Amino acid sequence: QTIYLKDYTPAPYLASHIALTFELFEDRTIVRSEVTYRRNPASSSDTLVLNGQDQVLLAVERDGAAFDGFTLAEQKMVIEQAGEQFTLAITSEIHPETNTALEGLYQSQGTFCTQCEAEGFRRITFFQDRPDVLSTFSVRIEADKQRYPVLLSNGNLQESGDLAQGRHFTAWHDPFPKPCYLFALVAGDLVRIADTFRTQSGRDVDLHIYVRKGDEGQCAHAMASLKKAMKWDEEKYGREYELDLFNIVAVSDFNMGAMENTSLNIFNTKLVLAHQETATDADFISVEAVIGHEYFHNWTGNRVTCRDWFQLSLKEGLTVFRDQEFSADMNSRAVQRIDDVDQLRRLQFPEDASPLAHSVQPDNFIEISNFYTMTVYEKGSELIRMQHTLLGADNYRQATDLYFSRYDGHAVTINDFVQCMADASGRDMSQFFRWYKQAGTPSLQASGRYDANNSRYTLTLRQSQPDTPGQTGKQPLLIPVAVGLLNADGMETHATQVLEMTEREQDFTFENVASRPVPSILRGFSAPVKLSTDLSDDDLRLLQLRDTDGFNKWEAGQTIALRTIQRVMADAQADTSQFIEDFGALIEQGLRKETDKALLARALSLPSIAVLSQAQEVVDPASIDQARTSILKSIKQAHKDALVRLYEFNSDDGAFSITPQAMGRRALRNVALELLTVSNGTGCAARAKAHYAQANNMTDRVAALSCLADSIKPERDEVFTDFYERFKDYQLVVDKWFALQAIANRAEIFEDFAKLRRHAEFNIRNPNRVRALYSAFAVNNPVKFHDPSGQGYALVRDAIIELNAINPQIAARQVTPFREWRRYAPALQSQMQQALQSIMETPGLSNDVFEVVSKCLK
Ligand code: ARG
Ligand code: ZN
Repeated sequence: QTIYLKDYTPAPYLASHIALTFELFEDRTIVRSEVTYRRNPASSSDTLVLNGQDQVLLAVERDGAAFDGFTLAEQKMVIEQAGEQFTLAITSEIHPETNTALEGLYQSQGTFCTQCEAEGFRRITFFQDRPDVLSTFSVRIEADKQRYPVLLSNGNLQESGDLAQGRHFTAWHDPFPKPCYLFALVAGDLVRIADTFRTQSGRDVDLHIYVRKGDEGQCAHAMASLKKAMKWDEEKYGREYELDLFNIVAVSDFNMGAMENTSLNIFNTKLVLAHQETATDADFISVEAVIGHEYFHNWTGNRVTCRDWFQLSLKEGLTVFRDQEFSADMNSRAVQRIDDVDQLRRLQFPEDASPLAHSVQPDNFIEISNFYTMTVYEKGSELIRMQHTLLGADNYRQATDLYFSRYDGHAVTINDFVQCMADASGRDMSQFFRWYKQAGTPSLQASGRYDANNSRYTLTLRQSQPDTPGQTGKQPLLIPVAVGLLNADGMETHATQVLEMTEREQDFTFENVASRPVPSILRGFSAPVKLSTDLSDDDLRLLQLRDTDGFNKWEAGQTIALRTIQRVMADAQADTSQFIEDFGALIEQGLRKETDKALLARALSLPSIAVLSQAQEVVDPASIDQARTSILKSIKQAHKDALVRLYEFNSDDGAFSITPQAMGRRALRNVALELLTVSNGTGCAARAKAHYAQANNMTDRVAALSCLADSIKPERDEVFTDFYERFKDYQLVVDKWFALQAIANRAEIFEDFAKLRRHAEFNIRNPNRVRALYSAFAVNNPVKFHDPSGQGYALVRDAIIELNAINPQIAARQVTPFREWRRYAPALQSQMQQALQSIMETPGLSNDVFEVVSKCLK
């Protein structure tokens, strides 16, 4: 059941229009679809293959007469020698009320909603469920008027009215041909928040956000973000919204973050609702980013869509790049870059180093849902960023203009996109394209030589590509390496230059270098590689203090910290005095008014266990944690007074706001709190409790809870109980309450976990709750997930087996913490392998779970 990119053939039939009717009831939904099929001139086949799954077929008519000239096999309806042109009307019964996979049409807390990407439309009606079949849609929805006053689909509302027996209907028409994965339907009792946006050409667009009653006070940030995104896309990409209406609906049960269905975006509530009392600064930032992301899909994904699912990064990589740049423009560019790179390293680098490594344009899959990955999304975004760097902003913009004008209304490939980059700039992009085909994180080694006689500095770069499953002997990549030079006094003598590396090994020469320089290499993280240099700790210290590139300033500090932690891991008595002393100087910076607090907060954070693990030959999270914590404790011991001053200096300065400055202040103060509470003693618990009590926002409350999570002092339970009582009516806050306990690195964790698992508010059918308990534990509590007793592995294994039968997509996601099992110490390794093995032996294993587990074990 493996599908290959090389086997792509055009769809045998065109379906230029589809008319759908839904009759929604509590115990069933009746769907009727009517499509006129026409032979596709681009195809040589006259066999029509319609995908269909989990439907009871009630009737089939061809050109108005009952029809049985088809065969039903393996979730397919096949009509051979189907003819030139004919109309097929299909009626089927489906059961959204029992759909726990949350694909196709399903119910979330009494609201009907859909998720059709990638292959959910086949659970709604029989259709060619593939993105290269574009149709205009008319949709009629009928439902009980009292229970479901709001009935929505894509496009424009054509008609609405009452029907017999307390029912009513609406009829929608979407004039832009779209693939069926962008179809959406919503029916529910929802409240509407309304606003408008005037486009650059002067048209007014109605903006509506629909949420459950009671949530309407938490929508202002999402609405403001949507308007910012619409304006940004006009300014930065010249893209205007074309319909008169743009709807967003928030639902509580959702497999992913959100979905860009044409003019009817459906969101996980987590990425819409935000209020200072219930959402952290990080939540505010992600709401803005994802509202932007889904809106930007309107052009990069919808108007220009994917030919097949191997091209997923065509829309996702590009749209992530667009949302990252939007966030950088709305907030702090340097902070955004640091956070994006940190995420890439924590989550994508491990994927690229695992048995699940795949290229940004994969060449085969069993279940496409498994390819909505950090590689396709985040590494895909890095590939767009490199093209932006190589072409420069002006040529890049010309290339995207060309892309939109050439392909509006078409389903295209990644090659088509890169060809636009080539055509608009006159560059040959063929070597660059290898980035899309070769999996694995490349390594880049840099070493420098200074020639005083000729005032010349030569930088030698070497690149190598690791072997990954099914891929060996890789070709060298075109790597843009942004480099600047500083002199020994920390002055920048050579501004940033983008070196274009094309060979495995290459020398780059800088002239007029008056003294031995310190190079700042890979500025802004100009390529997604693992960089190693011959820079000394002193060189790095100079960069940390003086580099003009905000990202590399931070990076230099992280590299010093990484080296220091590694020294302590090798020898617990290693001398860290220089590092601790420098750290004190950084803390002092926070006592100055003009300091960029958000950047400093990140500079004062040591690399995470996830990042540190990647530098270990054999991963042992407990020993990393031990070394890391001992350094944190030394910092506290040496600088306690300064940290208290840092904490107080950055105390509240008035009314709550989410400006980058206010967020930076909170971040810095909470880092101080974290360092001050690292030893988990009585004073620490009291300090965190006081922080909680004074807080007027969720960021500070969560910071307090996270400082208390590992504690065994009575304050811990007092604060967690108060938090639950205060916020128990807010599902998204209850998720935080679960997650903050799941990350506790303390002996009681397995008893705590068992209690949480049995808690009345735990519901394995709700993906947010599963992520709050299980993903928080397995991803953010590495020490206890990898507990030598194997209890951590066992509880995640059991959840995967249970979820396999309920929601295969979510089940498969929970496998990722096991994927790097071969890199762990032998005792852990064999237990992880056993856990995977027993999942493999589960009867009725879904394609989703089968694919990831079998690849992990191979
Ligand atoms: N296209 C959506 C987004 O990136 C994600 C949809 C994922 N759906 C899925 N079944 N995996 O915004
Ligand atoms: Zn997307």
